[in-house]
Amino acid sequence: MYKRTLVTSALPYANGPVHIGHLAGVYIPADIYVRYLRLKGRPVLFVGGSDEHGVPVTIRARKEGITVQEVVDRYHNLIKDSFERFGISFDVYSRTTSDVHQHLASDFFRKLYDGGRFIEQTTEQFYDPETGHFLTDRNIKGECPHCHAQGAYGDQCEKCGSTLSPEELINPYNAETGNALVKKATKHWYLPLDKDEEWLRRWILEGHKEWRSNVYGQCKSWLDGGLRPRAVTRDLDWGIPVPVEGAEGKVLYVWFDAPIGYISNTKELCDAKPETYGKWETWWQDESTRMIHFIGKDNIVFHCIVFPAMLNAWNRAEAASGGKRQYILPDNVPSNEFLNLEGDKISTSRNWAVWLNEYLDDMPGKQDVLRYVLTANAPETKDNDFTWRDFQARNNNELVAVYGNFVNRAFKLTEKYFDGKVPACGELTEYDRQIIIEIRNIKERLESLLEDFKFRDAQKEAMEIARIGNKYLAETEPWKLAKTDMARVATILNLSLQISANLSIAFEPFLPFSSEKLREMLFFTDYKWEMLGDMKLLPDGHQLNESSLLFEKIEDDVIQKQLDRLERIKHENEERAAAESLAQWKPSAVKEDTSIDDFDKTDIRVGTVITCEQVKKSDRLLRLTIDDGMGTNRPSGEPYRVILSGIAQSYPDPKVLVGKQILFIANFPPRKMMGHQSEGMVLSAVNADGKLVVTSITAPVANGAQVG
Ligand code: 2FM
Ligand code: ZN
Repeated sequence: MYKRTLVTSALPYANGPVHIGHLAGVYIPADIYVRYLRLKGRPVLFVGGSDEHGVPVTIRARKEGITVQEVVDRYHNLIKDSFERFGISFDVYSRTTSDVHQHLASDFFRKLYDGGRFIEQTTEQFYDPETGHFLTDRNIKGECPHCHAQGAYGDQCEKCGSTLSPEELINPYNAETGNALVKKATKHWYLPLDKDEEWLRRWILEGHKEWRSNVYGQCKSWLDGGLRPRAVTRDLDWGIPVPVEGAEGKVLYVWFDAPIGYISNTKELCDAKPETYGKWETWWQDESTRMIHFIGKDNIVFHCIVFPAMLNAWNRAEAASGGKRQYILPDNVPSNEFLNLEGDKISTSRNWAVWLNEYLDDMPGKQDVLRYVLTANAPETKDNDFTWRDFQARNNNELVAVYGNFVNRAFKLTEKYFDGKVPACGELTEYDRQIIIEIRNIKERLESLLEDFKFRDAQKEAMEIARIGNKYLAETEPWKLAKTDMARVATILNLSLQISANLSIAFEPFLPFSSEKLREMLFFTDYKWEMLGDMKLLPDGHQLNESSLLFEKIEDDVIQKQLDRLERIKHENEERAAAESLAQWKPSAVKEDTSIDDFDKTDIRVGTVITCEQVKKSDRLLRLTIDDGMGTNRPSGEPYRVILSGIAQSYPDPKVLVGKQILFIANFPPRKMMGHQSEGMVLSAVNADGKLVVTSITAPVANGAQVG
């Protein structure tokens, strides 16, 4: 039996503010779990912190024109503050630039190095000869080999979502400077993960079948695919220096030092307050501690394979040198899938996110609303979408109409009929007993869901208590009974207030601010998880505090403001992507020679677009009628030439072409497309972003004039 639980949550990169994806994926679930354990009185330590190394922070520094230290200082403080204001109840939130961490991570590397746990390899890496820097992953851009978008990153194409390695990019270049790259030899230290395959298979695939299927599945596919040695050092000038000779200019790979940050942050806390937290080793090197990592799905391999392999390598090095200390491995790694925003992938670089600091400014006091919505929609088993309309609906129809409404009615009626004192509970009816049993049963279900990391369903169960309460009041109608049977009214309100007290406990892990407010209103200070289901929490005659609304309706204009902001960002992104494509665009090679005679065979003319509309049932074709100067003097007898053109995707508003003078080929034989006769071809150019642009002329020319 475990004596204590160590909960870690992924250390976010200090390269920007944190957003709803972070909160939904990692920090809210971790916080719910920790608050639940604390309420149960189980010893728990909740460790967080900022990940301040790696390429992302250096990119941000160059973008903002400040030093990397300034970047990590700025964002570490902003992130820490956002978490605090959202009630993420870390015991410690430190940073990987701390002294404790620099030493611990460095010692950890050295231990593996001295224990012969690394292999050294010299390989060819991308190098920018002009800046004299080796470049990796996100510092490298190029053409995506899959969708051929320009500007794909060395680790991922943001257009089609493919995972990439820099080697796969077509024409790789330095993302910052645009310089072309060459390959250059460099030495690095590798963790030989191929040697860990066997015990990892045993430990995960046989020993942890209870892990979430997305986590287990990803581990299985990594292991089935065969593990390869992984470099744990990089050629960078920002990071923890590699503590061995001959490694000048090299630092620890961010994914080597970051998870060690969990240990360093624990150490920092325990060393500062040993009387409260004990020794850090108790949390990390004692078999009676259970460790749980909360992460997002892109971190699975690092927490389930790489970090355990690092800990294992340390343990072996320790044992080989006659030492007795041994790190524990995680007992579970509850990882969420991704949260999208309004149907699109959340992205820091594209500013497609709801940033927590901005939310806090725009929606003061509404932390619990976001916590509620993100848990109700938590991407526990599949990617999910956050939409502002859903946010509004869940607030108005669930928090306000169910939870808030119930509590408010219970209080208002008690204030009206009993001066705000808990009335005595009289004889119970069959219906009362049934309600009491239903609430008791919820405790068991809620608990088992929380233990299983099923927070979305667990929150539903908590809400069920409010639903039962609402139904109870609606069906017993105490406001009507008040004329005839005050003793019955007293019982109904007593039970309603007991249900409210239960709600304050059940919701504490999920909605800590509202629970606290409700407890204050109830004047209910001494509470713990085990009281859940007890319908005698408030004694008869207990004086309540003044009540106020727990939740408020959110109006349309508030939501519209958020939607307008996203619309603006979408537009800015499209413009930026187009500019980037344009900057990288190169004209194709000129075709082989032709002759004036060949060219003369094609009859290119000028015409004015009279109408232009989308062809029904086709997303590709536009139907243009064109004044070609010929009047009705044509086989169809119609006044205008009809041409169908496959440019619809490039012209969401086809009317923009009306009135323009364009060029078309007049002597292609007519052909039928989607039931329409098409008499020629409109000339257009393929732009750098892949869109078609119809060539139009500015100087007025007679319709029907030939081009040549
Ligand atoms: O994906 C990320 O944001 C990483 N900074 C997470 C690191 S988790 C841990 F290992 F520190
Ligand atoms: Zn792509």
